[in-house]
Amino acid sequence: MEHTKFDPNRIRADFPILHREVGGRPLIYLDNAATAQKPKEVIDAINQYYAYENANIHRGVHYLSEQLTEDYEQVRAHVAKFLGSEDPAEVVFTRGATESINLVAEGFAKSILKDGDEILITQMEHHANIVPWQMAAEQTGAKLKILPVLPDGSLDMEALPDFLTERTRILAFVHTSNTLGTINPAKEMIAMAHAKNIPVLLDGAQLVPHAPVDLIDLDCDFFVFSGHKLFGPTGIGVLWGKREWLERLPPYQGGGDMIEVVDFEGTTFKEPPGKFEAGTPHIAGVIGLGAAIDYLETMDRAGALVHEQNLLEAATAALEAVPDLSIFGTATQKASVLSFLIEGMHPHDIGTFLNADGIAIRTGHHCTQPLLKAFGHAATARASFAFYNTIEEVEHLGIALHKMRRFFG
Ligand code: ALA
Repeated sequence: MEHTKFDPNRIRADFPILHREVGGRPLIYLDNAATAQKPKEVIDAINQYYAYENANIHRGVHYLSEQLTEDYEQVRAHVAKFLGSEDPAEVVFTRGATESINLVAEGFAKSILKDGDEILITQMEHHANIVPWQMAAEQTGAKLKILPVLPDGSLDMEALPDFLTERTRILAFVHTSNTLGTINPAKEMIAMAHAKNIPVLLDGAQLVPHAPVDLIDLDCDFFVFSGHKLFGPTGIGVLWGKREWLERLPPYQGGGDMIEVVDFEGTTFKEPPGKFEAGTPHIAGVIGLGAAIDYLETMDRAGALVHEQNLLEAATAALEAVPDLSIFGTATQKASVLSFLIEGMHPHDIGTFLNADGIAIRTGHHCTQPLLKAFGHAATARASFAFYNTIEEVEHLGIALHKMRRFFG
């Protein structure tokens, strides 16, 4: 276990929900891959916005509107910087990673994909990175190709070159698996696709809460994430796209604010990112996302990452000591996500038992049904950790699982 000066107990003071009880027990929140908790800085920023700053943006000449427009656009610039990029015009605000992928998939269906083309995804994708591409394939006659996952939960990298063909129009894959925890060799995969002039969409929903991102270094063409997994509000997310790609894709939705001139004879659209943001956006969401990024930037993120890896190591050891328990996803590069099964027990029963001890985990298919099916599972139990979790909480998880095994004999 690596030593870190990072102190989760100091960080926990910033998260009001971590101090509540569930059923008379202190809450142990281990469902961070589903959604992360919010520091009071984020909650306060949203309160402040609704209480004193509310107006519509991009539309008013009055003080509130102008001030808020500036704040909104500042968050856009801040997100660009947070992702290691310089150009705010490459940041589109969406409802979340899911909408970001839908925007790109629909744009590809309308303007790029043709009958017989190929869309390459992987077997470990979340439904959000499967279904939009299936819909695009149905609309265009393109084929969805699937890069397999090996028994340890890593991608079959040896097979990748053969899957990147002259008909592949896009490679879309997850950086960090929400079910297996696997961290994929994204940079290498992107370089392999680019060597064949294939653009890449990287799903960073489970990367951003754990580690800093450098999109210039990764060199993907599209990057998506959701605010709520980054300790920000629900209903807000980001599509980052290289400017030339955002210029090339058609608008996603039509309406106010995304236009230059509307005439009954035809309409002209704003330059990106404006052409992708129709209607009044989720302003409170953007303000909250900005506050979440501000908060993260005050933290020792390198220390937080070491702490999370220590949690993963301790939790893996604790789970391995439970009789009849098997961990699903044992790749060497993993984020702090642990899916597991216990012989003879349904994952929902595990979740219910742990809940009685105040421990929140997710059970089910984790929106990755094809991955689970390929391994012969219908569901798993999943504990997922954030930097505010503690080694004591991991110990409680281990104790509760042993207690459960004894209870069910
Ligand atoms: N994708 C989220 C999860 O893994 C909802 O739980």
